[in-house]
Amino acid sequence: MTTNRLLQIGLLVLMMAFMAGCEYEFIKPAPTPPPPDPTDTIKFAQQVVPIWDANSCTNCHKPGGTPQLDLTAANAFSSLTSLAMYNVDNPPASRIYNFPYPETGDHSFKYATQAEAELILQWITQGAKNN
Ligand code: HEC
Repeated sequence: MTTNRLLQIGLLVLMMAFMAGCEYEFIKPAPTPPPPDPTDTIKFAQQVVPIWDANSCTNCHKPGGTPQLDLTAANAFSSLTSLAMYNVDNPPASRIYNFPYPETGDHSFKYATQAEAELILQWITQGAKNN
């Protein structure tokens, strides 16, 4: 094999490596959001906590508010835990789920949608983690 031939092969290998790099960078398909899955792990901070702001629960359930239960982002987990607002052994019996449940809840203030309540139930069913 001549030196020239070796150079040609070397150049070819370099070009292929370069093209492979381009392909990875430019032809990679855009990620599509996965469909919602009921077995997905519910994230407390990202998915559960925002529900209490969105429903104005935190207008009252805040530090120094009348009800003892504090649902603000900084305190929600410790407050729910110390006041036993969830029950991992019997999730539907959890007060944070059923007391403000749409239509049937006993609280004067309720979740706007059943989906919000069910998401909280799913979080409790998965062990009520501070995740
Ligand atoms: C206008 C003020 C106010 C708003 C808004 C409000 N609450 Fe309450 N909440 C209270 C008061 C006062 C109590 C305690 C008296 C009672 O049991 O009704 C309470 C009690 C509770 C309890 C039971 C606490 C316990 O110690 O047993 C839960 C759970 C609760 N609220 C959740 C919520 C959720 C979730 C929202 C939003 C959908 C909400 N609250 C909105 C004032 C409010």
